[in-house]
Amino acid sequence: MPHIEEIVRKAKEKAYQETDSEPDPSLTTAIQWPVTCEIGPGLEDAITCESKVGYVNGPKGWLIYCGLDTFDLSQKSSFEETAYLLLYGKLPTLKEFEDFKAKLSKYRALPSEIEPYLERLPIRENHAMTGLRTLVSILGMLDPDADDTSVEAQTEVVIKMIARFPTVVGAISRIRAGEKPLAPDPSQSLAADFIRMMTGKQPSPDDARVMDICLILHADHGINASTFASMVVNSSMSDMYSSLVAGIGSLKGPLHGGANEAVLHTLEEIGDPAKVDGWYEESRAKKRKVMGFGHRVYKAYDPRARVLHPLAELLSQRDPEIRKLYDIAEKLEKLVVGDLGAKKGVFPNVDFYSGIVYAAMGIDKAMFTPIFAVSRVTGWGARTIEYLKNNRIFRPQDVYVGPLRVEYVPIQERG
Ligand code: ACO
Repeated sequence: MPHIEEIVRKAKEKAYQETDSEPDPSLTTAIQWPVTCEIGPGLEDAITCESKVGYVNGPKGWLIYCGLDTFDLSQKSSFEETAYLLLYGKLPTLKEFEDFKAKLSKYRALPSEIEPYLERLPIRENHAMTGLRTLVSILGMLDPDADDTSVEAQTEVVIKMIARFPTVVGAISRIRAGEKPLAPDPSQSLAADFIRMMTGKQPSPDDARVMDICLILHADHGINASTFASMVVNSSMSDMYSSLVAGIGSLKGPLHGGANEAVLHTLEEIGDPAKVDGWYEESRAKKRKVMGFGHRVYKAYDPRARVLHPLAELLSQRDPEIRKLYDIAEKLEKLVVGDLGAKKGVFPNVDFYSGIVYAAMGIDKAMFTPIFAVSRVTGWGARTIEYLKNNRIFRPQDVYVGPLRVEYVPIQERG
């Protein structure tokens, strides 16, 4: 698939050309506690910890995992290798990688005790992320080592979950389609097998490689809401399953991982490239946020969207309906960036083009956010374990703005 690698290489070239003039990276020197920083609402710009896992530079549009540029990882690595990198802080040797992949293969199948839950839980009737949250919680109940909070045991849980999330999400997708879940095939790459378990069809090599890139690009992204949620839960020395369940719960929301599904709803609602202008005008008049645009950190083009945009274009060529969605997206991007790019730093984020990529693979939009979780479990795990090594329970402050010393009035005397 040299054309896919070439697409990623060109995306990197473009990104670097456009951001060359940006200032040097900030937030890369060791913290001297207590730290002084200016904090906005929603903990904007608050510094939580030091990390060697990943680095996001908004103005430059950089996303780096353990020193490696995600453009390079997308072009040259695999999701399995990237997961190793995030967990252990370095690229594996051949032997280390073989051992890691063997472990992932061993863990891919779900324990048989989960089967009655797959059959009886109302998975079809609920949001796919609700199904994932519940099933991961059950997997924790079925794991005798779940309450071992040592770094070694928690790392093992994360590896198990990196292997099992695709199987669980595959099962949810099949059950939602009224089909029986499929067993994993460990002879295939995690990305290829993941598509097969979701759709019931063996993916083309191109689709498998594009999914691999999607999983690489979504694996880690600083102290985002779901990663922070995972870290906060584990900082009480709870357990890794509770931590991952918190991450899933947070990712579900439309302001975070849920935006990829919302984007497709938007594109379908617009329905025609000719209707984009009218739709956007109305949207602005009603002061609605356009899903798939804007980011707390990137006030420039999100590097992940730079890769996903041309990949969406490539895959959309196979189906006129998907091509139409792509054309609507492109037109909408031009309008939003023209209007809010320079003014507010609003550009497409990772979620804007990912939905088109997944739709082109024949994946139901209800599964888009769970796909995100299949990848992000790596970042949740890597950062939670890194924090655990130097753990201090999270405990920020609030400012009380309510009344002080209100007199207690007995219930019978209240008006
Ligand atoms: N559409 C229109 N205007 C926007 C958008 C958008 N998508 N995003 C930001 N803006 C505008 C805001 O209205 C605001 O304008 P104002 O100064 O006139 O009030 C300004 O840009 C700053 O936006 P905030 O909402 O303050 O930025 P914040 O950092 O709090 O929010 C967020 C970031 C939540 C991602 C926001 O951009 C948004 O809601 N986007 C749509 C949902 C989305 O795509 N989420 C996925 C994010 S990526 C991820 O989580 C994986």
